[in-house]
Amino acid sequence: MSQPKEIPLMEKIVSLCKRRGFIFQSSEIYGGINGFWDYGPLGAELKRNLRDTWWRAMTRQREDVVGLDATIIMHPAIWKASGHVDTFSDPMADCLVTKKRFRADHVDPQSGLVYTYRGALNGPTLQASAATEGLGLDESQLNNAMLGYDAEKAAPSEDDKRIAKLLLNFPAAGYSDHAFSVLVPPGKPPESARKVAKQFYQTRNIQEPVLLRETTAKVENSRAFNPENGAQLTEPKPFNLMFHTYVGATATDEDKAYLRPETAQAIFAQFKNVVDSSRQKVPFGICQIGKAFRNEVTPRNFTFRSREFEQMELEFFIKPDEAIEAACGSVAAWSEGTDLSKPQDNWGWEMWHRYWVKERTDYYNSIGLGTDVLAYHWQNKDELAHYARACVDILFKFPFGTEELEGIAARGDFDLSQHQRHSKKPQEVFDEDVKKAFAAWSDDQKAALIARKKGENAAKGDKATPEVDIDAWCDKLFKGFYVPHVIEPSAGLDRLALAVIAAAFNEIEKTDTKGAKEVVTIMKFHPRIAPVKVGVFPLLKNKPELVAKAREVYDLLKKHLTAFYDEGGSIGKRYARQDEAGTPFCITVDFETLGEKGDELKDTVTLRHRDDGRQERVKISDLLGLLLPQVS
Ligand code: GAP
Repeated sequence: MSQPKEIPLMEKIVSLCKRRGFIFQSSEIYGGINGFWDYGPLGAELKRNLRDTWWRAMTRQREDVVGLDATIIMHPAIWKASGHVDTFSDPMADCLVTKKRFRADHVDPQSGLVYTYRGALNGPTLQASAATEGLGLDESQLNNAMLGYDAEKAAPSEDDKRIAKLLLNFPAAGYSDHAFSVLVPPGKPPESARKVAKQFYQTRNIQEPVLLRETTAKVENSRAFNPENGAQLTEPKPFNLMFHTYVGATATDEDKAYLRPETAQAIFAQFKNVVDSSRQKVPFGICQIGKAFRNEVTPRNFTFRSREFEQMELEFFIKPDEAIEAACGSVAAWSEGTDLSKPQDNWGWEMWHRYWVKERTDYYNSIGLGTDVLAYHWQNKDELAHYARACVDILFKFPFGTEELEGIAARGDFDLSQHQRHSKKPQEVFDEDVKKAFAAWSDDQKAALIARKKGENAAKGDKATPEVDIDAWCDKLFKGFYVPHVIEPSAGLDRLALAVIAAAFNEIEKTDTKGAKEVVTIMKFHPRIAPVKVGVFPLLKNKPELVAKAREVYDLLKKHLTAFYDEGGSIGKRYARQDEAGTPFCITVDFETLGEKGDELKDTVTLRHRDDGRQERVKISDLLGLLLPQVS
């Protein structure tokens, strides 16, 4: 992915965000801190609206989802059980010259000629040694001889033999035998490679490097070199992305704790408490919105990949398919056109997964992100985590590329089972209906199910679990006990904020009354998420009656929706300021409002619509009834 500066539209968006107070660089007065962002007055409102619309859609408007608000720092054993301590890492590689760190799988692939050196010698030491060995070469001849020197030459010359001897006795302090490579794009001279190689050997304490044995080879699409200078990168090493801290004053390893890298694990860790306290029964979900932290190797694309961000996650717990099979006779199969509008008793994981993809798509549509800006990536088997059955990424067409907004994964019973194993606290639920359904099964039916499960398990090869575990699992299921499976729609709030900002960004060319053209920005946010819903203006600020009436209208509206009062500058300027902030409606109080043009227009205002500039006359008493349904 490219950086904002390389994409003109991103550059405009970043600049608007700063200028209008959507997003600022964190700690900017101290030079900023990479991967951290602050939301200004408009951004804070926008984010709050996104949070609210998500929370409403995911829990308040549903009977089968409840909320959770857990701590950021949790018992470190949670992250061991979830696998984050051992496997939550990115491959990382460092430039051997500048030490700049790269995420190895994000380095842009490059092609060209690779120059490799077998080491370097310190120039003045080399000249002294050459004189001792009787190599009668001047400085430049000596440097060329070293560059072309081949220790494996079939028929070495007398000079070659002297160089071999010289290298054998060379003072260790002036010699580096580290091989080093530089990638040079096609057409560039070898000098550029040699310059970078000398910089490398200088970092290894060779003050005036003379390069030893230069060879070349062609490469295609390599990620092993720094795209900025061509220098070789280190071998990729896993780098754990979790930020850690210490709980308590002693700061020993036993007190080590992590800032959560996802909000999901708290939901799993509190699953039993929620079941016991909420009267929810599977299928049901627990959702949470909150901060997550990842020490990303290369934060980039503005807020897209940050080190501190907010997630909006749902864990929707469902019965295992075998329980559905017992209770309903069979598990519903998905096919194109299947009605997913209302959950059914016979839905297994696949239908629930499809259902949540649809629900989440409907949510995005409801805040103005339609099929024109969304895309889907169904992960193939190689991309899936070993426990996952399916995962679809909902993508957004960002100016820097079509990238993930949300992942919706069918995670089986992996998470709760891991916590059950590590905490030694049962995470199973008891389901009377499942017990009853299996009670009606014959021994042959049960034996057939056990055999089928063992067959599926055997097909997992080295990931298979011991057969006794399958027997135990079936035995419990027949008695109505199971660890619920989970469907996890997991979205990033900051990515969503960036997506709606990018989708809203519109530039139009306007011609003023004097014929001058200017490009103006209109942020076409959906009214539901717009930071400010309505601007209220008196036509003139030096007419106290207009100001008083406009303030009255503002006071009426601000109790119910985010309103902004503005009396500065011409009405056109005030409209333009609100267009740039994305305010969908503006209200102007004028002389008609005061009744100066007759009673018919008294207590009416001009309501102006942002997207088409349409203006209509509306009674003040009708304003709330007209606006509220559109903004909530
Ligand atoms: N519990 C599953 C989970 O955390 P994820 O794909 O790693 O899955 C889910 O993250 C969502 O969180 C992503 O789709 C993205 O929207 C957001 N996200 C992840 N890493 C992020 C980062 N470094 N900066 C901003 N958002 C991020």
